[in-house]
Amino acid sequence: MASRGTESSEDFGDGRYGKELFEPEHPQEAERIDAAAQAYDPITLPRLRALGVGPGRRCLEVGAGTGTVARWLLDEARVDEVVALDRDTTALAGLGDPRLKVVAADITDESLRPGGFDLIHARFVLMHLPERRRLISRLAHWLNPGGWLLLGDAVELPDALDTSSVYRRTMDAMWQALKSTIGTDISSVPAYPHFLREEGLRSVAAELVCPPLVAGDPLARFWSETWGRMRPALVNTGRVDATVIDEAMAYLGSPRLAELGPGVMMAWGQRS
Ligand SMILES: C[S@@+](CC[C@H](N)C(=O)[O-])C[C@H]1O[C@@H](n2cnc3c(N)ncnc32)[C@H](O)[C@@H]1O
Repeated sequence: MASRGTESSEDFGDGRYGKELFEPEHPQEAERIDAAAQAYDPITLPRLRALGVGPGRRCLEVGAGTGTVARWLLDEARVDEVVALDRDTTALAGLGDPRLKVVAADITDESLRPGGFDLIHARFVLMHLPERRRLISRLAHWLNPGGWLLLGDAVELPDALDTSSVYRRTMDAMWQALKSTIGTDISSVPAYPHFLREEGLRSVAAELVCPPLVAGDPLARFWSETWGRMRPALVNTGRVDATVIDEAMAYLGSPRLAELGPGVMMAWGQRS
């Protein structure tokens, strides 16, 4: 049996985020990432504030996406430096600030030596990378004394009474397709606090927040766009067909929508 945090490679396909799915060249990719950021930033940013992020800090934003968190760290928290790292940095091009260092790199590249940080944040990145446990260890080792590691990834609390709605079937097909194509796995997210302790961090804690899923809001648009983009992979799971996906996407835009959507679980810890 796999121990906590380790996975058999047989569980995953060979694909990678940004190649087999969510190609950065897609005209709607930045908009899709931004829609999720609009929903989850109001959860992430107060947590960063509570960790005392501010002037004098050097920060690493892993998988920076469109840079909404990096921009907040610079403009609102007034930190000294943000290293915004992503495998594709196209969407970060507009963020002109002398305190911002944009790094186009794969976080799994073992040769990366980005230096020490007072804050490292990664949201909706590690869940997509099969190497997540080893990466948590590397990120923890890049912390300066007193530095914080804040990880945010998805957790779902599915309605146990619903196994067959178009919403449930499409959401389940999505997690299965993400896992088999690029290795996404959210099953170990609730174990992140333990992983942070195993890395010797202190003041470890975690919280889970599920933002409201409301028709027409950015988050509903995010899931609809995500499902639309994954259509062939969803059908390949055998759980849904084109009609179910269409109905599920229509449901996300309708006043009938009544779901507890996926939440972000944030886990944090501090280097002594
Ligand atoms: C779901 S998006 C999240 C973006 C941002 N963190 C946010 O929450 O708004 C995942 C981001 O991680 C980046 N990413 C995925 N795999 C990566 C890797 N191996 N190395 C660096 N960045 C990666 C993607 O390019 C994308 O920008």
